[in-house]
Amino acid sequence: MSRRKLVVGNWKMNGLRAQLGEVEAIGKAAAEVPEVEVGLCVPATLIAGATGCAGAAFIGAQDCHMKQSGAHTGCLSAAMLKEAGATWVIVGHSERRTDQHETSADVAAKALAARAEGLKVILCLGESLETRDSGKAIDYVLNQLAESLPEGAAPDWLSIAYEPIWAIGTGRIPTMEQIEEMHSAIRTALRQAIGAGAADGMRLLYGGSVNADNAAEIFGLADVDGGLVGGASLTGAKFAPIIAAAA
Ligand code: PGA
Repeated sequence: MSRRKLVVGNWKMNGLRAQLGEVEAIGKAAAEVPEVEVGLCVPATLIAGATGCAGAAFIGAQDCHMKQSGAHTGCLSAAMLKEAGATWVIVGHSERRTDQHETSADVAAKALAARAEGLKVILCLGESLETRDSGKAIDYVLNQLAESLPEGAAPDWLSIAYEPIWAIGTGRIPTMEQIEEMHSAIRTALRQAIGAGAADGMRLLYGGSVNADNAAEIFGLADVDGGLVGGASLTGAKFAPIIAAAA
């Protein structure tokens, strides 16, 4: 099954209009490798501005609310993000699971709310260092997958990112064997959950300290279909070689 590589930047709480030039540079880098799907999930305040200069890259959001509207001060619905220009959204990032106490049930509901608006979704999973060290990483992540997987999960709108929490922003990455083992376990669990055809078409991204030096090796692993990139996606200079590594 050939899956188009997907490389997505997650700007987290970084980026003002002054950084739209970087969005433009990333969009140009994306245009050079049409075989790779490239996107940038920017702060909601930048979505509208970024869509105007993102070139070949799509613009996504980093979270959405599970409800369509209502009394939820400070929150943004999928429809709002879509109206601003987002075509994708990340749900279940570990920083939100931790800082905003989002449960896997919340994450599944957010994914469904996004889908209802026609947004594509990247669903994040990942274990803590404590869980990894206790030898229970695979059990933990598969359980998180089972609890977060939305109804009707299918490769045309959903991708999954495995992001070990201890690798995010730390410069520390799992061994290639650990990444392969986890991605293979996720793929196998997906086959049971949604059927072999859908599971084999679904893109599984790796995230956590991806950079220009390690991207080619990681993206070349079996069952790794691209990456979710934080720090190294903030500038065109850093992100372009990672995009190129997926080609
Ligand atoms: P990082 O972040 O690339 O800075 O480690 C990845 C992420 O949190 O998506």
